[in-house]
Amino acid sequence: MPENLLKGKKGIITGALDENSIAWQAALKAKEQGAKFVLTNAPIAMRMGAINELATACDTIVIPADATSVEDIEKLYDEAKEFLGGNFDFILHSIGMSPNVRKGRSYGDLNYDWVQKSYDVSAISFHKMLQIAEKKDILNEWGSVVALSYIAAQRSYPFYSDMSEAKAILESIARNYGQRYGLLKKVRVNTISQSPTKTTAGSGINGFDEFFDFADMMSPLGNASAEACAEYIITLFSDYTRMVTMQNLFHDGGYSFAGISQTIVDKYLTK
Ligand SMILES: NC(=O)c1ccc[n+]([C@@H]2O[C@H](COP(=O)([O-])OP(=O)(O)OC[C@H]3O[C@@H](n4cnc5c(N)ncnc54)[C@H](O)[C@@H]3O)[C@@H](O)[C@H]2O)c1
Repeated sequence: MPENLLKGKKGIITGALDENSIAWQAALKAKEQGAKFVLTNAPIAMRMGAINELATACDTIVIPADATSVEDIEKLYDEAKEFLGGNFDFILHSIGMSPNVRKGRSYGDLNYDWVQKSYDVSAISFHKMLQIAEKKDILNEWGSVVALSYIAAQRSYPFYSDMSEAKAILESIARNYGQRYGLLKKVRVNTISQSPTKTTAGSGINGFDEFFDFADMMSPLGNASAEACAEYIITLFSDYTRMVTMQNLFHDGGYSFAGISQTIVDKYLTK
């Protein structure tokens, strides 16, 4: 493993809820690679307490912030800048939630107030984090901003419900803000489209376990774990990917380009 890929870099990591979270793994890897960062999550997630253990392991602090609130994000950036002693080199947006998915509403019976909530939490919060970063001029040149997506942004997956549109918006924001921020300050903005992963957000989806196994059989390399995703995130925060921006990058063991796999033929189609 390379060492100190993020030496001297400072940033913000959102979305670490428990050790299964992609953001939790990303924080551990960022620490291992020499970064200094602040952790944040929604105030309600703070009550579960686990994030404080992560903060101790990473020699950092937790600043509560609801990512749908402009005021909370402003406060988060101000306090993080003070703690870190300067501007940021990276931001991880690892936030997703759909009340419709959580409460099992089908795609033909969506509650539209909840749809707004899904989009606000899972996608518009990404725009807010970028816009406030720009207004406060809080990112250093060649900074890197990454959000996490899923292939339901491009293809239909019945169980993913209104999160499909949320991810499509998220990826679109990466393209449009990537263009803007690249010109303004050489900041890059990308999304990583990750395999199904056994986390709180992932497992909240109806039929998740069955689909997890299917995707694993379809992918020549198998499903990518949260830890592998964290390693990919670190490369995107590092100086080795400075010319990558406005992309949606599949991190899925090859799933996105597989038509069918022999394993699936043997399991389901051979008589
Ligand atoms: N698990 C999967 O199968 C999978 C696959 C592809 C992409 N993703 C994406 O990865 C990201 C991280 O999810 P995860 O799988 O690690 O699950 P997770 O449940 O561990 O993380 C989701 C996080 O979002 C936070 N959050 C929710 N509402 C918030 C708000 N208003 N403000 C701030 N934070 C808020 C939660 O507290 C939680 O920490 C999400 O964007 C998710 O959609 C997950």
